[in-house]
Amino acid sequence: MIRLMERTSEEIIGHLYDELPGDWPDLLLETAAASTFESVVNMAVNNKQREMLLTAYRVRLDGFGSACITHLNDLSLRKQHADRHMHQQRMESLGRLAGGIAHDFNNILTIIRGNALVLRNDDKLEKHQKSVSESIIKATQKGAAMINRLLTFSKPQPFTPYPVDLTSLIEETLSLVSHADWENVTVVSEMEPDMPAIQGEPNRLSQVLVNLFVNGRDAMPEGGTLTVKVRRRNFLTPSELPQAGVEPGTYICVEVCDTGIGMAEDIIDRIFEPFFTTKSTGKGTGLGLPNVHSIIKQHSGWIEVESTVGVGSTFTLYIPAIME
Ligand SMILES: Nc1ncnc2c1ncn2[C@@H]1O[C@H](COP(=O)(O)OP(=O)(O)OP(=O)(O)O)[C@@H](O)[C@H]1O
Ligand SMILES: [Mg+2]
Repeated sequence: MIRLMERTSEEIIGHLYDELPGDWPDLLLETAAASTFESVVNMAVNNKQREMLLTAYRVRLDGFGSACITHLNDLSLRKQHADRHMHQQRMESLGRLAGGIAHDFNNILTIIRGNALVLRNDDKLEKHQKSVSESIIKATQKGAAMINRLLTFSKPQPFTPYPVDLTSLIEETLSLVSHADWENVTVVSEMEPDMPAIQGEPNRLSQVLVNLFVNGRDAMPEGGTLTVKVRRRNFLTPSELPQAGVEPGTYICVEVCDTGIGMAEDIIDRIFEPFFTTKSTGKGTGLGLPNVHSIIKQHSGWIEVESTVGVGSTFTLYIPAIME
């Protein structure tokens, strides 16, 4: 068995050295003829097809003939990191822009609201004038809530997490949102028992869940089924992790699955962009998923999306579990 940096090849790529697939023996023979060899090979790593850069060097060992040192560099992972880095940079610059606008807009709203309050409290006003000022106040409240969401992802807010039982939080949040306008939506929940707690902030996690549930409902105007599943997933080695920059360990996985309209590829590519919405004006602001993204990142987790047009969508959250 080959050991690399104290980890076996099986731990790193899911294969024992002598199980390596494809044209390895040929490549090694070619290396024996040349002194170095480089080739791009496709191989399955933990059941996922990956593009690898295979580099092999021939070395002579005094008295033992020659040996071959090979290393594999996961090109798919490198591309994935570069894509994520670019996406993150784009989100950061959009966040800065949005944060600046939110700040100025907040000042203007404060003035409008302050003046509307003065008007409402003026005894000389007619009844209908009072109701107009009431509408202005309500609109400013909506605006303030929107700015709050904008600030959540544009500026990292202080984070003071503590142990949270995600299963109870999901049940609570589901009962809060699934009322009157959910008539045609069947809610199914499948929760594995005895889930470990996570380290988090319930208010923010609740915002995440509300947005995913409401998005699911909105995707099913004719009705359908919203399934929420909670289970644990173990990612024991870095190579099992589908995401860069997260730690191996046990994760609580929350799946929110709808039987709605689904999304085409070009929509999926944009859903985490601030202000991207396909909903009509007044119905969606396009701030829900950017917030979900930044809150889950703050919880050291990640989010995955799968969708098929006309079949439905599944949003899956992964948050590290607290292990004793
Ligand atoms: N479950 C889903 N099914 C189909 N499309 C979805 C789903 N979830 C999100 N989307 C698409 O992603 C877009 C962005 O979602 P996001 O939650 O960020 O904003 P929104 O729901 O449009 O508005 P807001 O959440 O601010 O009220 C949606 O407008 C919709 O096109
Ligand atoms: Mg939304």
